[in-house]
Amino acid sequence: MQDKKINILAFETSCDETSVAVLENDRVLSNIILSQEYHIKFGGVVPEVASREHLKRITDITASALEKAGMKINDINMIAATSEPGLIGAVLIGLSFAKSVAATLNVPFVHVNHIQAHLYSSFIKDTKPEFPFLGLIVSGGHTLLILVEDFFKHKILGTTVDDAAGEAFDKVAKMLGLGYPGGPLIDKHASDGDINFHKFPISRLKDSKYNFSFSGIKTSVLYFLRSSNFQEIKSSKLINDICASFQHAVIKTLYDKVLLAAKEYGIKDITISGGVSANSYLKKTFGKLEDKGYRIFIPELIYSTDNAAMIGITAYYKYINSQDKKYFDDKSLNVNARPRLDFANF
Ligand code: KG4
Ligand code: ZN
Repeated sequence: MQDKKINILAFETSCDETSVAVLENDRVLSNIILSQEYHIKFGGVVPEVASREHLKRITDITASALEKAGMKINDINMIAATSEPGLIGAVLIGLSFAKSVAATLNVPFVHVNHIQAHLYSSFIKDTKPEFPFLGLIVSGGHTLLILVEDFFKHKILGTTVDDAAGEAFDKVAKMLGLGYPGGPLIDKHASDGDINFHKFPISRLKDSKYNFSFSGIKTSVLYFLRSSNFQEIKSSKLINDICASFQHAVIKTLYDKVLLAAKEYGIKDITISGGVSANSYLKKTFGKLEDKGYRIFIPELIYSTDNAAMIGITAYYKYINSQDKKYFDDKSLNVNARPRLDFANF
């Protein structure tokens, strides 16, 4: 099958985005994403509702993805789906649906780790990073700095010891009364704010120079709000300035560690992916490294947050780079109950 075109139908349902994509090899032909709005009023994802919404919409979205790609279901010769980590019920919907389509069509089924998919989302562009490269993954549940030596040869250099970067954005947005998800809202308010308004702490961990910690920044925002009579003042200028100063502290933490690792390992190609990579200040800050001879790869906005195209492209690379059948065609695979990353299997 390696010589002929691989038409991939890919599914992502690990959280509150129902997404289906069609790829021809590593080229994305369609990528339909439905962001479930139900959760906004609760200020966070309601797991059982997420599963039910996936179930309601997955068939329609699959039909739309095929139609947009100009394909019929029988043109598909590989199926891919997120198998971990994520909300168990939500993962289960996409995984079961995908496995049953693969069984019906009698084509290989490739299961994909969602965090690996964020890493390989940087390959969706025509200009691709070259190995070895550094991968920073910043999402709502994970923050990882990885040395990527080759396809699926990963060395995790650092991870968060408490909150993920996106989680810190979401929690601080909640404290400021901005709503959910917090990242895009903080990003927007920060664009009119002053990064020097207040110095929130930039965490430096003594035990591991590449690990991250964001709970200190978050707590210091909380103390700052209490001490500044925030609830009484709550002016838009104050909100904008807090957002800009907080955002600066988070992005500076990420930037310092990535640069340290790039220098230590002598690496010029750096990928940044996951929801937080959509942040405009992050893009601006890391973009400056291009002047120093680094190449920065950040996926387009639609491929930063959760999407099925990144599942499809990861499945493609997994398939063409693997001689081991356990990576594909495992239609008996069950959903993994771990909500977070299993580092041993990364
Ligand atoms: O990768 P993702 O879509 O889902 C997970 O796998 O978690 O990441 C979602 C996270 C949320 O925490 C959200 O607030 C954050 O990405 N995010 C942003 C921005 N857009 C999304 N954070 C900062 N700035 C943004 N523009
Ligand atoms: Zn994600």
